[in-house]
Amino acid sequence: MSEFLNRLDAPISPRAYRGRVLHALNAEESCYWQDGGLLVDSEGRIAACNDWAALEKSNRLGGFEVVSLPPNALMVPGFVDLHVHLPQMEVAGCQEANLLSWLERHIFSAEARFADAAHAQAVSRWFFGELLKNGTTTAAVFLTSHNDATRIAFETALALGNRVVMGQNLMDVNAPDALLKPAPQMLAETEAHCEQWHGRDRGRIQYAWMPRFAITSSEALLAGIGQLRQKYPDVYLHTHLSEQLGEIEAVRAQFPWATDYTDVYQRFGLLAPKTILAHGIHLSDDELGRIHVAESALAHCPCSNFFLKSGRFRLLDVLARRLRFGLGSDVGAGPELSMFKVMKDAQFMQADALVSLQSLFYAATLGGARALLQEDRIGNFEPGKEADFLVLDPLGKSCMALPGGEAGSLDAQSVAQNDPEGILSPLVYMGDERLVRATYVRGRNVYGNSGA
Ligand code: GUN
Ligand code: ZN
Repeated sequence: MSEFLNRLDAPISPRAYRGRVLHALNAEESCYWQDGGLLVDSEGRIAACNDWAALEKSNRLGGFEVVSLPPNALMVPGFVDLHVHLPQMEVAGCQEANLLSWLERHIFSAEARFADAAHAQAVSRWFFGELLKNGTTTAAVFLTSHNDATRIAFETALALGNRVVMGQNLMDVNAPDALLKPAPQMLAETEAHCEQWHGRDRGRIQYAWMPRFAITSSEALLAGIGQLRQKYPDVYLHTHLSEQLGEIEAVRAQFPWATDYTDVYQRFGLLAPKTILAHGIHLSDDELGRIHVAESALAHCPCSNFFLKSGRFRLLDVLARRLRFGLGSDVGAGPELSMFKVMKDAQFMQADALVSLQSLFYAATLGGARALLQEDRIGNFEPGKEADFLVLDPLGKSCMALPGGEAGSLDAQSVAQNDPEGILSPLVYMGDERLVRATYVRGRNVYGNSGA
């Protein structure tokens, strides 16, 4: 893999990418230039992003090689997938009655296959490659409980150029023996992985403590993770919370002393600003309030919630409370990695309210970065940030173009009016990985070809 590492480490020549640009400035506002420029320096940082004429006028282009993108090309920030499972790639789309039977019938056996290093290698390469192909530059990834498979996943992400937050899956009860380890062993192994991987490649690789969920955790395991969290306050914690009613019942029986599901994690000190809680479908007002006070983030996974019929995420309440949250594909409960599909389903899930396109685009980019507390590094095109970006071809999906090659939904009118919502609408409702022509992480081309 060293040839990839060399490619990613080498300085790049400073480039000025010229084409359409769209990025979120904050939760309420995006910025769009029809003839814009994204200037990337030799370190892969954003030197400037502006209207092309303004860049020319202010003499910002000196020293940058101009890369003129094809006429329709649109640059957007790379997507952040806040919750996805690498070992579930090959079993996505297995219908089942509910979460717990789905785990038992399809998921645990698929994860057990990661005892085989060759299998772990093959799926890891496939998975991280597919993320980049889908335009996902940053992902918070669940792995399995195997030592070698965990190492292989990190090596692969490091080599292929993905930005990741991930760690060994920690389970010591209530799953097949092949996936369980005694709590002291799990804790020792995950700490060793953390020491080896956290912060690698100037912070592109981040480690997370990853208890699967309360049901597969003994109190000893949760207590040990709480201690690790205190010892390494900079490391993430990522788990599932309150996804289905049957799951919540089982948690109540297993932890009778807890006031609610959130309390199980809270008692062991697991709620903190670097904590990502996936789903949170059935949270009470009180739980939402405590998650807010703890400054933890939620990962909303609408495709998965539809698939497993988990219920409806309280998106409007989460938005109103200004809780930090992002979007997750949750493959394999979610059938696809595409964050375009996740944005669309987040809209459709709110059956009686129209969610602004801006807030969906924000959640898939800068909001996801903010959920990870990485908004000073990625998420949009503010100067100084690392240049994680996509070159989209809005005509890459044939039904978005009119016969004869004319632009269809991404129509001249919204473009002429410089209207970000007009650009976003066809992307959110009709986008998929066919639009992604090229993907860049820290200025390096990690997938495809910009067509320049
Ligand atoms: N809860 C515990 N494990 C899982 C998982 O693998 N997928 C989903 N969607 N929920 C979970
Ligand atoms: Zn999940």
